[in-house]
Amino acid sequence: MEIGLVTLLRAAWIAAILPVVIALIPSSKLNFFKQLVLGFAKRGKIMQSSSNKLSVPQKLFIHFYILAFVWTTLLLAATWLYAYSTTPKISEPLLFSSIASHLTGGSRIFSLQRSHTSKEHRSRIAVSIFLLLLMEAQVLRRLFESIYVFKYSPSARMHILGYLTGLFFYTAVPLSLCCNNATELYKFGLSLIQEFIVKGKDRMLASGVDWSRFFNPLMQLRWYTWIGAAIFCWGWIHQRRCHAILGSLRENREHSDEYVVPHGDWFQYVSSPHYLAEIVIYAGFVVASGCSDLTIWLLWGFAVANLALAAAETHRWYLHKFDNYPRTRFAIFPSVY
Ligand SMILES: NC(=O)c1ccc[n+]([C@@H]2O[C@H](COP(=O)([O-])OP(=O)(O)OC[C@H]3O[C@@H](n4cnc5c(N)ncnc54)[C@H](OP(=O)(O)O)[C@@H]3O)[C@@H](O)[C@H]2O)c1
Repeated sequence: MEIGLVTLLRAAWIAAILPVVIALIPSSKLNFFKQLVLGFAKRGKIMQSSSNKLSVPQKLFIHFYILAFVWTTLLLAATWLYAYSTTPKISEPLLFSSIASHLTGGSRIFSLQRSHTSKEHRSRIAVSIFLLLLMEAQVLRRLFESIYVFKYSPSARMHILGYLTGLFFYTAVPLSLCCNNATELYKFGLSLIQEFIVKGKDRMLASGVDWSRFFNPLMQLRWYTWIGAAIFCWGWIHQRRCHAILGSLRENREHSDEYVVPHGDWFQYVSSPHYLAEIVIYAGFVVASGCSDLTIWLLWGFAVANLALAAAETHRWYLHKFDNYPRTRFAIFPSVY
């Protein structure tokens, strides 16, 4: 199942990246294809009001973050509970498995504990927990911003395929962050349900929480995970600032769908700094996972391609709309693109 899920996720990321990468190739022969992809990817100010067919309001972005919050929380809780139950108690590291197994009559949970307590395995689970925690911090902020910071104009819309792609994205990202443990999590979930049915809630919780075991996964993290977390925080802080700038542009304005040239923070360098910050945030995931997880590289690749395409259109739109638009700004990557 694990191999199957990982392969499926990777195939889905590649299928999502390919059309966007082809659309990014600057060739007139590919113009038709590029317009087709852009037709699905455009939203808000860069989407012509004439192309409103099969579109939904852009404020439905909030659905992405509700979905991402529920799904990430579920995966995080399951992974953390699994890590907790497979961490040997400090006082009885060697005897733990056999005694527990003996006392419980060899339940499946404890046979799992016996087979999965290697250092490398625990470190892999710890990284998944940490990445899901970072994801939680990202989606909670985005949920807050969608409700309280952005003032979506009533005319801003996105294509229904863009909406479905968003739902796919926020289902696939949390799963990609922990898919290497999918089989164990699945088996663990099943055995937990079985144990719950047999023992009941009260007897399962009777032993109380051992906090040192609970926080043990965070002690298993390697140095590169903390570097990834620092990169994530850098992107997170700048995205928060850029979103606050975008959200403030319509304050005290008569028309709720008016557009203005934004200034401040990374807007000094590029037209879509919030997209650049998103790329930095996902680069943080790549580094935190040790740069060795192909699935996470692919999810980052999709974010880069998708946001670069949208940023190029946004940049063109600004240059066309405002005569006094700062000519020194790039689309998304300072001094590059
Ligand atoms: N990971 C991914 O693949 C992915 C994909 C999509 C989005 N995202 C993230 O989601 C976040 C939001 O993306 P988005 O595409 O919705 O951003 P956006 O189109 O720039 O819009 C954000 C908000 O700011 C307003 N706005 C934008 N430019 C403005 C201007 N010049 N003057 C006045 N108001 C302006 C928009 O108004 P309107 O309501 O009028 O448009 C909207 O309410 C970004 O940080 C992005 O990174 C990520």
